[in-house]
Amino acid sequence: MKEIRIAPSILAWDLGNLEEAVKISEKGGADQVHLDVIDGHFAPNITFGPGTVKALRKMSSMKFDTHLMLDEPLAFVEKFLDAGSDILTVHAEVLDGTRFDEIWGKVHASGKEVGLAIRPSTELPQWALERLDKVSTLVVMTVNPGFSGQTMDMSVMPKLERLSSLIETERLPTDIEIDGGVEPENVQEVVRRGGNVLVAGAGVYSKKDPVGAIGVLRSRAISARGAS
Ligand code: DX5
Ligand code: ZN
Repeated sequence: MKEIRIAPSILAWDLGNLEEAVKISEKGGADQVHLDVIDGHFAPNITFGPGTVKALRKMSSMKFDTHLMLDEPLAFVEKFLDAGSDILTVHAEVLDGTRFDEIWGKVHASGKEVGLAIRPSTELPQWALERLDKVSTLVVMTVNPGFSGQTMDMSVMPKLERLSSLIETERLPTDIEIDGGVEPENVQEVVRRGGNVLVAGAGVYSKKDPVGAIGVLRSRAISARGAS
C-alpha cells in the first residue's frame, strides 16, 4: 500500500506571508508543500508564479508539489524547474499525448517528477491512460480549480475508485493525490477509496492550530486504512 502523505496548500494562508505558511508545514511534519499556480485563464483566480516559488525555495528544503493550473504549462515548465519545484503537475484538459511527452522529457531530464491533474468533471483521456506509468502523481481534483475553502465534490468518488483500482491492478507506482476540500471529516472516505496524498488548504490553515491539524489529518488517514 502506498504511503500516506500530507500536502498543505499554502493558498489558504495569508499570501503576504507565505514563508510562515511553509514553516507551519515543516513544523507540523508535512511531507510536501502544495503550491497552487493559477493563471486567470485556466481557472478564475491569479495566485503566484515562479518568482515566488524561487523565493520560498531559499527558505525551505521541503518537497515542492507545484500544481500548475495554466492554459500553457509547456511555456513555464523550465521556469518552475529553475525555481526549485520537485513535482510539476499539469492538467490533462489542456494537453495531448505529444505535449505531455514534451513536458515529461524536460522534467525527467532534470530528475524531477511529473504529476497529472484532472478537474472533477474530467475523465482521464486515452493518451493519459497510456502514459500513466510516467506520472508520479495523479491529482484527482475534488473541487473546481480556483479557490481554497470549497466543499469537496463527492460525485468524484466513483471516478476515484475506478482510477485507484486501475493503478492497483496494473501495479503502477503512481500516487493518487486528492485536491479540494479535504478535512478531518472526509479524509478517511477518500483514503478508503484509494487516495494516498492529501492536499489540504483550509483543512490545515483555517484551523485554530494549523501545525496540529497536519497531524490530525495524518492520523485519521492512517486509521482509515486500519479499519478497512
Ligand atoms: C484549488 C487548488 C487547491 C486548493 C485546496 O484550485 O488546486 O489546492 O487550494 O484548498 P482546500 O483544501 O481549502 O480546498
Ligand atoms: Zn491544488
